[in-house]
Formats: sequence, C-alpha cells, structure tokens
Amino acid sequence: MQIPMLDLKAQFAGIKEDVLAAVHEVFDDQWFILGPRVKSLEEKIAALCHVRHAVGVSSGTDAILMALMAAGVGPGDEVVTTPYTFFSTVSSIVRLGAKPVLADIEPDTFNIDPKKAASACTSKTRVLLPVHLFGHLINGKEFRSIAAEKNALLIEDAAQAIGARGGGFEAGEIGSMACYSFYPTKNLGGIGDGGMVVTDKDDIAARLRILRVHGGRDKYVHSYVGINGRLDELQAAVLLVKLPHLARWNEARRTIASRYKEAFAGLPITLPIERPGFYHTYHQFVIRLADRDRLQQYLREHGIGNDIYYPIPLHLQECFQDLGYKKGDFPIAEQCAKEALALPAYPELSQESQDEVIARIHAFFGKAHA
Ligand SMILES: Cc1ncc(COP(=O)(O)O)c(C=O)c1O
Repeated sequence: MQIPMLDLKAQFAGIKEDVLAAVHEVFDDQWFILGPRVKSLEEKIAALCHVRHAVGVSSGTDAILMALMAAGVGPGDEVVTTPYTFFSTVSSIVRLGAKPVLADIEPDTFNIDPKKAASACTSKTRVLLPVHLFGHLINGKEFRSIAAEKNALLIEDAAQAIGARGGGFEAGEIGSMACYSFYPTKNLGGIGDGGMVVTDKDDIAARLRILRVHGGRDKYVHSYVGINGRLDELQAAVLLVKLPHLARWNEARRTIASRYKEAFAGLPITLPIERPGFYHTYHQFVIRLADRDRLQQYLREHGIGNDIYYPIPLHLQECFQDLGYKKGDFPIAEQCAKEALALPAYPELSQESQDEVIARIHAFFGKAHA
C-alpha cells in the first residue's frame, strides 16, 4: 500500500468540474492579471481574517518581502524571527539589506518563544515576524504587547495557517500585516504560486497595492522601487472555488490529527499539542522522537509518505553564515530539526490509509495496534 504525504489528485477529483469551469471563464475573458476574481478573493480573505484589506500577491515569499517593504524595513534595521521556519521568512529580511535576529522556539508548538523574542529585541528592531508554524497560532496577545513595548511592527507569517485561530484571534488579525501563501500544497492551495497580505490599516494597504505593481500608483509613474508582485486571475479563480471547502478540509485534518493522537498515546513519541482555546489547522502533523531517522527509513520502506520540517534550522544554513550564528545557539530548534517528522494528514486520507499509518508506527515500536 502506497500512502503519499499529500494527494492533490484526490482533492481535485472532488472539485474538478467547478475548477475547470472557473478556469474556462478566465480563458473566455482573457483578463489574466489583477482582475475581478483577484478582487473578489481579496474581499473574501479579508473577511475571513476579520480585517479590512487583503492584497493579492505573487507568492507567500513576495507577501513577506512586500510586507517588510511596506513597513519600511531596510539596511540598519533588525527583524526578530525564528530559525525554525521555511527559508523565505528569513531570506526576505536579508534581501532588503536588514538583519534577521533569531530567537529560539517553544518545544511544544514549534513557534518562536515570546520571551526569547522579547529579549532579542534591540533599539534597532523594526519588525517582529513570528510564524504560525504548522497551523498553530502564536500567542497573539503576548506578541502584541511585546511589539507595543519594543515599538516594533508585528507582521505574521501566516503562510501555513489559513483558517487557524486561537487566543481570541483569527490568523491574520493579530499583527499590522499578515502574509499568506497559496502554494499548491497549502491548506488553501492554488495551481501555481500565489499569496496575500492582509491588513486592517488603510495606508499600509494602499502602499502594498502600489508596491506589487513596480511601485507605481499610476502607470509609468513610480513612487517606490516596487516589484512585479501581482496575483493572477487563474490562481484567484481556482482559489475562489476552493475557499468554500477550506473549513471542511481543516476540520478533516483535525479529525485525523485527533485519531493519530489517540492511537499514538503511550508510544515514545512527542505528539503535536493544541493549546486550550486554539484551533490548530494541522498544515503539518509533526511528531518528535529521538529515533526519527530510523522511523523515517521504516516508513519509506513501507510506502508511507513522510517529510522533515525542517532538517536544517536557518541559522545553520550556509547562505546565512555571515549572520554570525553557530551550532548550539538555538538548541530547541536544533533538537527539533533532528527529531521532527511529519506524517500524512491531508483531508482526503482514507480511513484505511490512516489505519495503515497507525499500524505501521505501532509495528515500528514493536506493539500490535489494538
Ligand atoms: C512559513 C512559510 N513562510 C513563507 C512561505 C513562502 O510561501 P511561498 O512558497 O508561497 O513563496 C512558506 C511556504 O512555502 C511557509 O511555509
């Protein structure tokens, strides 16, 4: 039995006619960039995040880049973030000539530790950029008060957290801005690259709308050095078809996560947690165990998809060596990099496949599954 880590074909099978009809309409219209579908998607995502504005952009990476640009981040500024995240959270800071200042994570949520983030702030800190990793929100109240105290702007990297909530917040409504990714494997994924920046602030939204079209308010008149950072109509058309399914898909991920948690209780593995009052969307279901590499090998041999998020924390990446960090600087992130393993938990994963994942993991630990 082969069980992939994610099966986008299974998702597509359920929405194929609607997706193809929506794509067909875009071809009929021949309006491909920043048209009515992008506008409609922006309105719907803004409503989902309880904010007034959403700006469709070319990817999650460009969402972060443009959010930082809109915040005025540049040389001499520091941005506090986590070493345990996808590459572009940190690369976007470096691209703007600013300095990423990293703070270690919490071992249970994998999110940046608020106390360590607070102590990493200096007089140069312009932005706090926490990530809602794997779909578990940061503590919004705590991060808001750190940002206020340190006089920094709070920007959420919500790339993995669409539909997640907790602590009285929806993902996207905690910071001055939040950045989403519609990369195809995300809980809400397009048919290519895409992203969104959401904000409640009129002036920031206006700046983002200019930045994504080369920094020009009017054609060929440039106020800023922006980028080509637009969302296209094909992406928006497909995302509009998928959006009404998102809540159900997130629920399905949660059901699988509960089932795994119950089935794996008692095994020598650390299970992902959900803080009281939080709604984890399990973009990834990530366990931790000392014997990770052997379990990974075992699952591979038995055709069960799995993945490591993230094998090398960003402070140890070759390209970031000039930041001056070294091994041992962020022990929790480094330990998680050795111990974390993501298991298949996508909404269409059948009961039978779930049973197989559970049985194989029990077999690995030498216990028959009841
Ligand atoms: C935490 C995080 N930040 C940023 C990104 C970048 O998004 P994209 O791949 O759409 O550029 C991703 C996704 O890949 C991500 O998981």
